[in-house]
Amino acid sequence: MRYGRGMSSSGSTSSGQHADAFAASFREQFAELVRLRRDVRHFRPDPVPEAILQEALTLAHLAPSVGFSQPWRFVLVEDAARRAAVAASFERANAAALAATAEEDRALYARLKLQALREAPVQMAVFCDEETNTGRKLGARTMPETRAYSTVCAIHTLWLALRAHGVGMGWVSILEPEEVARICEVPAGWRFIAWLCIGWPREAHTYTPELERAGWEKRRPLAELCRKL
Ligand SMILES: Cc1cc2nc3c(=O)[nH]c(=O)nc-3n(C[C@H](O)[C@H](O)[C@H](O)COP(=O)(O)O)c2cc1C
Repeated sequence: MRYGRGMSSSGSTSSGQHADAFAASFREQFAELVRLRRDVRHFRPDPVPEAILQEALTLAHLAPSVGFSQPWRFVLVEDAARRAAVAASFERANAAALAATAEEDRALYARLKLQALREAPVQMAVFCDEETNTGRKLGARTMPETRAYSTVCAIHTLWLALRAHGVGMGWVSILEPEEVARICEVPAGWRFIAWLCIGWPREAHTYTPELERAGWEKRRPLAELCRKL
């Protein structure tokens, strides 16, 4: 039953479904969207229409946030010199990560593609404004990290909204956060959260993460990660 239709006084429909629920066909499509969201690292060079980007950002901006603080700050980086500086930061951070990887995993790690900083047509940095007074710090006094969690909620919404159009997104975290903040010339209180590579994927989205296909890690059984007390 669609929103607002067929509601009984109890808020349930005659079929027992809650009146506020979306249609079963929508739920199946949503589940498929979640199943097929992938971290994408291989992009075609053609541009992403501005309208798609704007729609996805508009939806991301509807994400939940602690105290309604809306701490996400999106910085679209088009400037080639800044993009090159971020790619250089990745090279340094990735070399350090490779060196820190267990010796038996190093050859496999070196083969992984972990970014598309030179290919993705859209590159976006996401920061969390740790000093925002929006929401007047409600909910964030004992757990200030909840502002960063809120920013991540927005990023995930962005990921799904882009994927709904077939646009891929890859999250790059193998970077030097202070260097990225310097490159982006952001205010001192903005904490770097993510670098996002966005564009049309070179291959169709699959149900299996690329790191699993590369033999790096498998999805764990959900039952191992849940417990009841
Ligand atoms: C916080 C975060 C940071 C990530 N950083 C990177 C990264 O630096 N490089 C990369 O290739 N993938 C990165 N990823 C993507 C993960 O590798 C990916 O989500 C995981 O392998 C599961 O694949 P899937 O997203 O396709 O389901 C990151 C994901 C998250 C949530």
